[in-house]
Amino acid sequence: MTFVHSCSSVCLLIFSVLFIIIAIRTWTFSVRVDKVRECRSVDSDFIQATDEVIERFQKALKFQTVSVEPHVYNTSELHQLKEFIKSAFPTIHGSPLVTFEEVANYSLLYTVQGSDGTLAPYFLAAHLDVVPVSPELWDAPPFGAEIRDGFIYARGTIDFKQGVMGILEALEYLLSRGIKPRRSFYIGFGHDEEVNNQVKVGTTEKGQVIIELKVKGEPGHSSMPKKESAISILAKAVVKFLSRKPSTNAITRTVTSVTLIQGGVKVNIIPPEATAYVNHRIHPSQSVQEIIDYDRQIINDERVQIRASYSMEPHPLSPYGDEDFGYQTIKNSIRQVWKEAVVAPGVMIGNTDSRHYIRFTTNIYRFSPTFMFPDDVKRFHGNNERMSVKNYEQVVNFYYHVMMNADQEKLPPFHQHSSEL
Ligand SMILES: *[C@@H]1O[C@H](CO)[C@@H](O)[C@H](O)[C@H]1NC(C)=O
Ligand SMILES: *[C@@H]1O[C@H](CO)[C@@H](O)[C@H](O)[C@H]1NC(C)=O
Repeated sequence: MTFVHSCSSVCLLIFSVLFIIIAIRTWTFSVRVDKVRECRSVDSDFIQATDEVIERFQKALKFQTVSVEPHVYNTSELHQLKEFIKSAFPTIHGSPLVTFEEVANYSLLYTVQGSDGTLAPYFLAAHLDVVPVSPELWDAPPFGAEIRDGFIYARGTIDFKQGVMGILEALEYLLSRGIKPRRSFYIGFGHDEEVNNQVKVGTTEKGQVIIELKVKGEPGHSSMPKKESAISILAKAVVKFLSRKPSTNAITRTVTSVTLIQGGVKVNIIPPEATAYVNHRIHPSQSVQEIIDYDRQIINDERVQIRASYSMEPHPLSPYGDEDFGYQTIKNSIRQVWKEAVVAPGVMIGNTDSRHYIRFTTNIYRFSPTFMFPDDVKRFHGNNERMSVKNYEQVVNFYYHVMMNADQEKLPPFHQHSSEL
């Protein structure tokens, strides 16, 4: 109330305009709204989160499949998780429709053979590894998978063992009901997702460039300093970076951070050179080269050598139109499980394994069926990662609906009435 009273008419006007812009943007993002049958717990094919389903999830969470850096992952735990998966889902692993392969020892690939070879197959992806933990900062053991107040606490509950186990539960259920898919599909679980990266439904992903700034100066003793040393020149360059006024909206959406500075060798020696690394997460509207050029222009100092030490262009935009089967299938599956959800395309801000697949298709959708309370965002890669039992049940049913909806030959007929626009 106080808010409304203190808000002038100008302020109200701004809000109205903003509201209209958001409404138009939402409307034009995806006009298509199919009638979907809501997923209800009384449905004959609703997958209940029974004690067995929850226990399987808890067991998977207890394997400490921690990835530390490239090629440093816990192979014995990955091996045990794989053996557990094979024993926990006997229908999948015994089905004549399913081919199971181990890739690079620890990644798992399933091929589910559909009956209609004319339908293009699809691929569901998740990963088996998790990021390291600081157990002393957790309220519950990070690999204990204890349930407290309806939440399962463990590393991997939201990144991304819920996906692994949710997909497997859905497939086990589908096959045990005797359903024979028409459309073939693949399921891939990587074991090194967390470390092969340097560090909404996402229809694209930010790129990344790590820029090395190097200054070669003159070495000397600190008792006889020259006016400028390698470190001071570098420091000036880094400060120009960080204090710049974003000149365009697009730049502000590319995120920059200085991640490493090195130079000194001894407290009383002026070092011959100094280096800094700057990490940019690149918005899809920009390219790696544009970022490098922009940095060069901002620093504007020839003594600072600028080069990209690692780079990856932002991913191409995946289609999200009214007739795009993949996007609409995911959207309809979301709306079946989360009736109130408004589904819109977005940019994935982190990087995922999907970069391996951009060679094969432009229809890549990054979506995690995870309900996050505002407080939960910091638990992602943080402490006290958790998922509610209810959310896990939704995860399983979401993947089941994806498999059932994707098995349709095409989207349901949809007629857009232009007069309604
Ligand atoms: C793998 O995890 C187990 C269980 O925590 C631990 O005992 C073992 O030392 C780990 N191995 C490596 C290579 O980190
Ligand atoms: C797979 O395991 C074998 C035996 O431990 C090892 O020699 C090989 O390097 C591993 N391959 C990969 C890709 O990790």
